[in-house]
Amino acid sequence: FVNAQQPAVHIIPEPVEIKMTEGVFMLNPSSSISVSHADKDLERVAGMLSEELNRATGYKLPVRAPGIMTNNVGNILLEINKNADAVLGNEGYRLKVSGTTVQISANKPAGIYYGIQTFLQLLPKEIASPSVMNNVTWQAPNVEILDYPRFGWRGLMFDVSRHFFTKEEVKEFLDDMAKYKFNLMHWHLTDDEGWRIEIKTLPKLTETGAWNVKRVGTFGDFIPPTADEKRDYGGFYTHEDIREIVQYASDRFINILPEVDVPGHSLATIASYPELSCTPGAEKYRVRSGEKIMNWHSKGFTALVDNTLCPANEKVYTFLDKVFTEVARLFPFEYIHMGGDECAKNFWEKNPQILALMKREKLKDMHEVQSYFVKRVSNIISSKGKKMIGWDEILEGGLPKNAAVMSWRGVKGGIEAAKLGHEVVMSPTTFAYLDYMQTDRIIEPPVYATLRLKTSYSFEPVPDGVDPKLIKGGQGNIWTEQIYNTRHLQYMTWPRAFAISESVWSQKEKKNWENFVPRVESHFARFESAGKKYAPSMYDPVIKARK
Ligand code: ACM
Repeated sequence: FVNAQQPAVHIIPEPVEIKMTEGVFMLNPSSSISVSHADKDLERVAGMLSEELNRATGYKLPVRAPGIMTNNVGNILLEINKNADAVLGNEGYRLKVSGTTVQISANKPAGIYYGIQTFLQLLPKEIASPSVMNNVTWQAPNVEILDYPRFGWRGLMFDVSRHFFTKEEVKEFLDDMAKYKFNLMHWHLTDDEGWRIEIKTLPKLTETGAWNVKRVGTFGDFIPPTADEKRDYGGFYTHEDIREIVQYASDRFINILPEVDVPGHSLATIASYPELSCTPGAEKYRVRSGEKIMNWHSKGFTALVDNTLCPANEKVYTFLDKVFTEVARLFPFEYIHMGGDECAKNFWEKNPQILALMKREKLKDMHEVQSYFVKRVSNIISSKGKKMIGWDEILEGGLPKNAAVMSWRGVKGGIEAAKLGHEVVMSPTTFAYLDYMQTDRIIEPPVYATLRLKTSYSFEPVPDGVDPKLIKGGQGNIWTEQIYNTRHLQYMTWPRAFAISESVWSQKEKKNWENFVPRVESHFARFESAGKKYAPSMYDPVIKARK
């Protein structure tokens, strides 16, 4: 064997241990796939591997009947361990590429699936091609890899409210997540700009709430729509669509965390059911089309229109009970996200119903009013058999027991929640906001902040001084105020999601920027082969002018 020709190993996220050995494995037209057991998940994963290999190679690898583990040259063996390998847990795997076969072993089908993702990254970049590539030598370097994740919560949040993305686009997003071993899609389904999930008992949410007027430009400054402008921009997912997407995700070992963002960010809800507001005139409110509705520069920030559900209105809790009944039935994941972020209080402050509620419930300020609301929501979510998670504002005025916190305004909310003994997911703006620009605003599509790849790469989910067991993991958040289509979505997501994936999968001591950069470049080549977009912004200099 000629070692000089051995292809480079460029895996993202970086595995726990890689041992290179001499030689290569060659996939050939008579290769096949073996599975150790009759197991529907294992057999499905084997079938998915066969399809994945077929697309670019044109080879049709048969999946053999369970238990026939032949060592024929070119075979791929997928083996569930008879006795659990304690090191691997539920998602880990061992991958051995030898000159003759590829062996992937794991305790669970999820581990086999992740081993397959790693194996695919060992093959030439053309394997990512959507059509058959001729004249490629389908070889992988001989290696032995041991791998398992650092965290059980490895997420990306996808905002489909600001812009609607179709079922097919969501599936493509899930496909890309799975390649980098993410196991959770946080689905931001409701906001001021659109309600995206069919609720059968509340039809106006999607008849009215899912539609606005298309505007482009710099978000927040859009010209307000006129009364007669057609509201035909948007869309929503039916129950059938949701079930299909949940299944598609589950086939790739991805859970979906649904988010219904309340009590703020609720203009689409108020536009559909104005009686959920306690502000006079709410029946005139419309789903936001990007016009200014908040003043972020006033003290604490204020709303220009009341985009909140009224905590003093019993109809709100009846409404939320209906919503969470259907959400809980549609999503098998154990958590439901209730938002809780950026709720303006200026309309509450002057509202007689809120003032009466404060008196009755002995609430001393607006934070306690919010906390009263969050606790009621928490009871509703518990009554559906689910755990509640919310943005870190749910700490204000007192956190309900058992609530998990998603820390976004830096890591301080996460630290505070963990110190109170609550579970935490880290997704701080400082490292994980993938809607921010990737370099200088002269070059990038304008957004109000910048987050460079190198900064994202330094994301460390466990802050000093907290019990690491309470940090469930982390996620990158992709808000879509200024993202209108899948190409732009890809541009904003990659490569920063590579950095996030490595921060949540790889061992802390394995992270190394110098070594990450060439791996990113190698994955850029895979994206090109796949015809997918990514941001090359890591190459851009940041120029500061001085007088
Ligand atoms: C958030 O970014 N408002 C959670």
